[in-house]
Amino acid sequence: MSEADSAKSSYPWRMEDLVSLCARRGFIFPSSEIYGGLNGFWDYGPLGVELKNNLKARWWQRVVRERDDVEGLDSSIICHPRTWEASGHVEHFSDPMVDCRACKKRFRADQLDDAGPCPAREGTSRHDFTEVRHFNLMLKTYIGASEDAAALAYLRAETCQSIFTDFRRVKDSSRQKIPFGIAQIGKAFRNEINPRNFTFRSREFEQAELEFFIHPTEREKWFAHWLEERQRFHHGLGFRADRLRVRPHRPEELAHYAKAAADIEFLFPFGWQEIEGVHDRGDWDLRRHTEYSGKDLSITDEETKEHYTPMVIETSVGIDRTALAVLVNGYEEQPLPEGETRTLLRLHPALSPIKVAVLPLSKKLAEPAQKLALELRRRFSTFYDESGNIGRRYRRQDEVGTPFCVTYDFESDTDGKVTIRERDAMTQDRVPLEGVQAYLRDRLEVGL
Ligand code: GAP
Repeated sequence: MSEADSAKSSYPWRMEDLVSLCARRGFIFPSSEIYGGLNGFWDYGPLGVELKNNLKARWWQRVVRERDDVEGLDSSIICHPRTWEASGHVEHFSDPMVDCRACKKRFRADQLDDAGPCPAREGTSRHDFTEVRHFNLMLKTYIGASEDAAALAYLRAETCQSIFTDFRRVKDSSRQKIPFGIAQIGKAFRNEINPRNFTFRSREFEQAELEFFIHPTEREKWFAHWLEERQRFHHGLGFRADRLRVRPHRPEELAHYAKAAADIEFLFPFGWQEIEGVHDRGDWDLRRHTEYSGKDLSITDEETKEHYTPMVIETSVGIDRTALAVLVNGYEEQPLPEGETRTLLRLHPALSPIKVAVLPLSKKLAEPAQKLALELRRRFSTFYDESGNIGRRYRRQDEVGTPFCVTYDFESDTDGKVTIRERDAMTQDRVPLEGVQAYLRDRLEVGL
């Protein structure tokens, strides 16, 4: 089966419908929408920010909190411009591009199949392309009052460079020894020529990166360790097994300093695409920053007295791409017996923006239902809804991925119980009011 066919058979719905759900329900919508949007920039609304925060919290928990050999960092977005000379970005971080002389549009030279017909040429719909040129993807800004070359700075193109420049400070302050890692989540910016596929290729996005510093003899061992860890993480997000794969880089794809690299790929409706890269970066970064800053970033092993520059295994995942994969993976349009369609987001409960919705069967039951919602809110992200018929209220929660709905009905006052409905199987349990917290906790925290 071709890649396009397997994507089509895996997703029997239209991407536009998910994009529309995301806007309508406040997950993701274009930035500056009232001005017509800004290509490659997206805003996360009330539900989107919760989803993204849940994803980031899970990454931080796994990569930083649960380990004693990884430290966290939150560095500035703009760093010294020499950083980007040392990293090679000023010289090499570019995409090949061509312009069409007729319609004036710009395209990536390696993606011309997607260019479509030229709207400005009569008699032929073919573009009139210029020669290929290289276009640096770093976004520029100026620091201070003047806008000359001395004030030029860059919005970071990846979050990891500050991990290298801060390596000694973090190592010494945390008293870590090799092997250990530094992790960071933050914004990165790339002036992509063709932002596309919803948030998949954006100009502003978030990365969660780990740089793990090791002895040169342990490269293979740690590369294998982190590749496995990171696959475990993605499987734990609830991705369907047939939508996740690892693609090792071919030797000719490897950066000149890299010994090994593999992409963790997800099958999107638009094909297999990278969501995370795991790279053996060798000692390239620490050596380059030593050279450009004049500050020695090598270490001496206290026990063996061996002096060396640590090697680095990197894991770099896009938060927006993973959030998109989570949405795409969870989206379903289920035909119901009554002829209706149920739109469902089958999200892992740990990622769901709302964990529980409290729904009184009638507005007359608002007072005790609100009291219950208030209690639950202290512990879980809780939504209270008393408007519309109960079936419609369930549907509203299904399409944003709320795993549980608690219904307070006319019997609740007398039997002291509520009905808890589960999103995917739509099963219902009658649970005593004092047991609701424990019921939810047992089911929401399973597999965490
Ligand atoms: N430090 C290594 C690095 O930045 P990368 O493969 O360029 O490697 C890592 O980026 C991850 O960042 C990618 O796997 C992807 O998930 C995310 N990413 C990269 N460019 C992106 C873009 N334009 N929009 C959204 N996410 C992007």
